[in-house]
Amino acid sequence: MIVYTSIKDIQSAIRQHRADGHSIGFVPTMGALHRGHISLLEQSIKENDINIVSIFINPIQFNNKQDLEKYPRTLEDDCKKLEEAGCSIVFAPSAGEMYPEEVKEHYDFGQLEKVMEGEHRSGHFNGVAVVVKRLFDICMPNKAYFGEKDFQQLAIIKALVEQENMPLEIIGCPIIREEDGLAMSSRNVRLSPEERSIAPEIFKSLNWIRQQAGERSIGEILILAEEKLNAMPGMKVEYICIADEDTLMPVQSWDEADNIRAFIALFMGDVRLIDNLKIK
Ligand code: PAF
Repeated sequence: MIVYTSIKDIQSAIRQHRADGHSIGFVPTMGALHRGHISLLEQSIKENDINIVSIFINPIQFNNKQDLEKYPRTLEDDCKKLEEAGCSIVFAPSAGEMYPEEVKEHYDFGQLEKVMEGEHRSGHFNGVAVVVKRLFDICMPNKAYFGEKDFQQLAIIKALVEQENMPLEIIGCPIIREEDGLAMSSRNVRLSPEERSIAPEIFKSLNWIRQQAGERSIGEILILAEEKLNAMPGMKVEYICIADEDTLMPVQSWDEADNIRAFIALFMGDVRLIDNLKIK
């Protein structure tokens, strides 16, 4: 496994691989790797000759300075995990390498960026789109892998690739959970033992929504689920949304769309967690 920090160096290595006819799989990450990330890499390894993982904590996608400062930084440990899992290339640039000049790009994803994470984290998806576009240009992958935990991010990236006519395939991969149901996230390590023991309520709540679907109205379910989560010590719901999986627009009734998914974002103490579950 080779670790590159320079764009010029990784690009010349990738050009050589492409000239040799190797297919390239790519997993963009912000490090603090867990089994969720490794499952993306494993999927990439199954489908490609050369597998690249980027590790870059992208400052421009954080709308909260504290969240950026507290984001775990574990490069050495991450590289060990990647080598063990069979990664070929790591790209770990500095912020100066990725952003030598002021960022001017502005993407428009219409309604897709106006709901949920887009509504609550101003500028977040533009920051994600800017870095992902640059990473795709640098790594030139045939396929790139993203987890469904960030379901809206996955939709935005598919839209980005279509808008920019980029010649690659975006593959969405299932959420990997702890045994008690908590979705794997780099932020989980910031939970205190007590917070960690309560955090699985998020997945329980999503399952409760699925179980109640069709029995109660969406309006009633949203109120009850929010009340229940907010009653947990230290939990504060930011939003619960039941939406059309394809457009991400909230639905008012169960027959409004063929594919429906429930989404939750909340604060557990000062740690922001998100999760989602397919309902139908
Ligand atoms: O999902 C993430 O970790 C990040 O948003 C991504 C896609 C690596 C862009 O910084």
